[in-house]
Amino acid sequence: MRNKRWMIIIAITWSFITVNCQSMKENEIINLPTPNKKSNISIEEALQSRRSVRSYKKDSLSIEQIGQLLWAAYGSTSGRKKTCPSAGATYPLEIYLLAAEVKGISTGLYRYNSANHSIIKIQHTDIRKQLTEASLNQEYIENAPASIIIAADFKRTTKAYGARGERYVYMEVGHCGQNIHLQCESLNLGTVIIGAFEDDKVKQILHINEDPLYIMPIGYKY
Ligand SMILES: Cc1cc2nc3c(=O)[nH]c(=O)nc-3n(C[C@H](O)[C@H](O)[C@H](O)COP(=O)(O)O)c2cc1C
Repeated sequence: MRNKRWMIIIAITWSFITVNCQSMKENEIINLPTPNKKSNISIEEALQSRRSVRSYKKDSLSIEQIGQLLWAAYGSTSGRKKTCPSAGATYPLEIYLLAAEVKGISTGLYRYNSANHSIIKIQHTDIRKQLTEASLNQEYIENAPASIIIAADFKRTTKAYGARGERYVYMEVGHCGQNIHLQCESLNLGTVIIGAFEDDKVKQILHINEDPLYIMPIGYKY
């Protein structure tokens, strides 16, 4: 009887510890390295050589490369302003990182916080396979060491501009995607914009409130 009581106490304590460790993991904040503002390639050279890349080497990416890419996508530059232009500075986009093989960042899904150049973990599993299936089996997602996902909260812009705000959001994701493309080129990495996916499925897999617009797998070019 006594033994049974102890076993129940141990089981409850253990499940409490497990649940807490898991939630701690999911709220983990990682401060990203300060982005470089100089590179060995000119903006003109990056524009000239940029191409969509759909196959990647197995090599892991580094936290420095990820920090640089997220900053290029939507990083703070001065005050509230960012690397990306935004209609009325309404900034409707949210940037997510799917990290699978990144040195210094454990596997999972993260949300980028541009204000302090950090990421917060919101899922700790590898969702690449599910995301590939929800994207017409474009297997580059599954094969890439990381992907950046750009999602939008349309209300932030339509509140200011009404229905016209919607087109402004679509324009903005293009700017953001091009920033990532050019930064990849400067880091000698490859990426491609993926716009063909099942919106609801992707949203469900990511467990996010915003609407996903682009998925950009990233890795070393062959
Ligand atoms: C809005 C948009 C959606 C796209 N969606 C996909 C996609 O789902 N899958 C894909 O492989 N490429 C996609 N692409 C990439 C284009 O196929 C690519 O940019 C085009 O073929 C031109 O080639 P380049 O990027 O190498 O210059 C998309 C590009 C844009 C701008």
